[in-house]
Amino acid sequence: MKTRICGTGSALPKLVVTNDDLSKIMDTSDEWISSRTGIRSRHLAVEENLTGLATEAAKQALEESGIKAEELDMILAATLSADNICPSLSCELQRELGAVNAVAFDINAACSGFLFALQTADAYIKTGMHKKILLVGGEILSKLMDWNDRSTCVLFGDGAGAAVVQADEDGGVLANVQGADGAKGEALVVENRKVNNPYVTNSKELSYTFMNGQEVYKFAVKTVPKAILEAVEKAGLTVEDIDLFVIHQANMRIIESVSKRLKVSMDKFPTSLEECGNISAGSVPILLDKVNKKGMLKKGDKVVLAGFGGGLTWGASVLTW
Ligand code: COA
Repeated sequence: MKTRICGTGSALPKLVVTNDDLSKIMDTSDEWISSRTGIRSRHLAVEENLTGLATEAAKQALEESGIKAEELDMILAATLSADNICPSLSCELQRELGAVNAVAFDINAACSGFLFALQTADAYIKTGMHKKILLVGGEILSKLMDWNDRSTCVLFGDGAGAAVVQADEDGGVLANVQGADGAKGEALVVENRKVNNPYVTNSKELSYTFMNGQEVYKFAVKTVPKAILEAVEKAGLTVEDIDLFVIHQANMRIIESVSKRLKVSMDKFPTSLEECGNISAGSVPILLDKVNKKGMLKKGDKVVLAGFGGGLTWGASVLTW
């Protein structure tokens, strides 16, 4: 039995903030941001919350799949910025959708989160334990940024994407690769509340997000092509057989480097980072929905999905559309 994606969806906050808009509130420029990253604008949540965006994305994915919310066996939400630590985003989604028969839990694997959710769903489907699963990847990263740190806050955006997968004989996931390297975790840190109780004398303030951009860059350009090649080989294919590479949208230079290392034309690497920035676990499902809605995926196409980021973590999957 294979795990086939049978519907996708996405939702972005209304407010669009361009690089020029940012240059009015901090010392930056469109030239600096776009030449180093390819990002031109991003959507930032003002009135929206993550549950609302994820619910909208999930409803679109369910509609395309023809599966009703009550038929879902499981909801896996990948996020590091859920509205609450508890209840999880996936439990909030279960409530909003009326998915009364679904077990629900979140996966925190930063920008690899959607890949890990897909691969977890694939494992459940292969064992026969579940058949119809909703996957969501989404973030409101703007609330976790230090808006005084221009080197990170300009890179990220908010939004959510979703996919419904089901057990199928035809098409679906052919191979998965996943990995983690906690020893390099400090290259990208989003801090939670510190230890604090009546017995702690000098509890510290929240300090938000830190990134060593160059370390993350080096990690990405080395690890992502390797993971994709491993997954493609595991699927019994070569990179020439792949029709589309839907990879995490962190930086155009990273995507160009992956395309170069794999010797695959950039035409096969669709992008959304120009208008979305980096949405961590949301990037891959939002881009997947964009290419699906544009009709760029035909039945039988071979697709690579790949994610990488905080943890450090990485994952790649090969599937037949
Ligand atoms: N606007 C203007 N100048 C900025 C700036 C901004 N938003 N952010 C940083 N700068 C300045 C720095 O202060 C530094 O100035 P200095 O030389 O006077 O000290 C200069 O630009 C160069 O900074 P540096 O950090 O060396 O730039 P870089 O060429 O490494 O590019 C990144 C920075 C973040 C774009 C790049 O490292 C990157 O894309 N890394 C990968 C990050 C990523 O994708 N992370 C997510 C993975 S999931």
